[in-house]
Amino acid sequence: MSFHTTSIAYQLRRIPTPIALAVGILFGFLFARIVPLTTPSTPVWRSGHIPAKSHQQSRQPIQLPTLDQRQRVLDLLATLSPHYTKECTRHAQPLYAAQALERYAPLIGHNPPSRDSWLSGLFGSDLDADKVHRRDVMPSEHKYYFAINLYNSFDVIPDLFATLFRTAAILGYHNVFVSIYENGSSDQTKALLRIFDALTRSVGMRVTIRTSTRTRGAFNHRIEYLAEVRNSAFVPLHELRDSEGEYFDTIIFMNDILPCVDDILELIWQSRINNAGITCAADYMYHEEISSPVFYDNWVARDINGTALENAPFEKIFHDEDSSDRFQRHLPIQVQSCWNGIAVLDPAPFYSPPHVRFRMAKITEGECSASECSLICNDYWEAGYGRIMMVPRVKLAYDSKVFDIIHPERRNLTAIRGYKRLGGLPDDPRTDPQDRSWFGPHDRLFSPEEAEPLQFNPGPEHVWCWGWDGAGDLEGPDVDPIWEQMPNKSTVANSVLVKHDRGMALF
Ligand SMILES: *[C@@H]1O[C@H](CO)[C@@H](O)[C@H](O)[C@H]1NC(C)=O
Ligand SMILES: *[C@@H]1O[C@H](CO)[C@@H](O)[C@H](O)[C@H]1NC(C)=O
Ligand SMILES: *[C@@H]1O[C@H](CO)[C@@H](O)[C@H](O)[C@H]1NC(C)=O
Ligand SMILES: *[C@@H]1O[C@H](CO)[C@@H](O)[C@H](O)[C@H]1NC(C)=O
Repeated sequence: MSFHTTSIAYQLRRIPTPIALAVGILFGFLFARIVPLTTPSTPVWRSGHIPAKSHQQSRQPIQLPTLDQRQRVLDLLATLSPHYTKECTRHAQPLYAAQALERYAPLIGHNPPSRDSWLSGLFGSDLDADKVHRRDVMPSEHKYYFAINLYNSFDVIPDLFATLFRTAAILGYHNVFVSIYENGSSDQTKALLRIFDALTRSVGMRVTIRTSTRTRGAFNHRIEYLAEVRNSAFVPLHELRDSEGEYFDTIIFMNDILPCVDDILELIWQSRINNAGITCAADYMYHEEISSPVFYDNWVARDINGTALENAPFEKIFHDEDSSDRFQRHLPIQVQSCWNGIAVLDPAPFYSPPHVRFRMAKITEGECSASECSLICNDYWEAGYGRIMMVPRVKLAYDSKVFDIIHPERRNLTAIRGYKRLGGLPDDPRTDPQDRSWFGPHDRLFSPEEAEPLQFNPGPEHVWCWGWDGAGDLEGPDVDPIWEQMPNKSTVANSVLVKHDRGMALF
């Protein structure tokens, strides 16, 4: 197996924060120098070009910082972040690192400069000539829109940003736009966001941070308010299209979770090779009674039969048998609906009719009061973008307690049972017993099945819906659950045909 010493190597193999960030900052710096400010604006969707104007996004145009100043930004970042997630990929077993490098290479979103520039010197100039050539002829770069809702998220912001910085260094800072919508936090969230806002701009990554003035009191229905908060994170998406003709190819919607760089890369990778409408992770919360994390977001998640997933240990989460079997083997699964902390969305139904948005149920038309995230999945189905999938490998936590349980450190078994190894056997790397436990080390090796595209089936006729009208004070669904009939459009073959090809050239 061969792999190449590109920046992703630094991201995944060693990843001491300062180096990872230095690489990113240097790319940002280089990019600022090589992007001509006269890039033509092509008002065609999928153009992937940033029109000249958007390089002066900030209200007062400022001079680009010098390399020295960027170094100081870097030093600051390295001490601020990350906190909980810093071990994600730090001691990855070498075979996993090699697999990840190869797997995610097609996501690298910066054209390497010619071999003899100072940059390739920085990486030891090991780039394969073929590969450089292929990347150079890539017609357009894929653009990513990160939408994030935060509320009293002081604790997770440093990790969230550290992960964003590193992920964006791989995707290409110029290909990434981050939209953060914060709704009236009472902790230091705002102050922290301001610091990261400034730092982010200084590497050439675009970020918009907006804060709400409206409170929930102004809305009658709880879901109407939550949908409004989510839609607010999408406002810049529409503004950029209207004012600059800029379109994005993939949206990553994140809650206040603690993700690792490879978590985000894997979701994007799965979303793109499957041309999925919506791709989500699996999220976990601590269950006090059974003293273990359990699957969390069962208010939204529905298997492909329309049945709800359970807040239960991993072998009891799915009722659909095939799905359950795949879940236990950490393989991607088609589902009717899910959200789970991070969802990667195909933006096509946002940009073109039916122009989906987050919404509350049409109660007057008898629609069940599901979550705004369930309703958007239903709307994707109806719009013909019903390729919805869950990626069990990507396990997310909302706090450090659960994070530490679901990402245990890979242990050196030599000292424990006399195994002479850290990882699997040399002739069969998959034999490490630690990989067989459900919450195993983060650097679990990829199986060939995880790279096979999913076969998508049309949606179920009925979906279990547990409504929440929020009339009373119940902090949870308050309407008797029903099997809700789905529109005919979601149950026909056309609902899962690929309409928008977001695939990538696999090397
Ligand atoms: C902000 O939104 C969250 C949900 O995202 C909600 O729980 C919280 O109450 C909202 N904050 C305010 C001040 O309304
Ligand atoms: C694992 O532990 C043994 C015994 O303590 C030690 O000799 C060996 O170097 C360790 N291996 C690694 C890779 O840390
Ligand atoms: C599949 O869905 C139907 C309703 O359409 C339901 O009655 C049945 O129990 C579900 N089966 C499983 C295994 O969840
Ligand atoms: C849609 O489905 C319903 C119930 O299954 C059926 O009665 C109706 O004829 C279908 N409509 C179309 C246009 O196929």
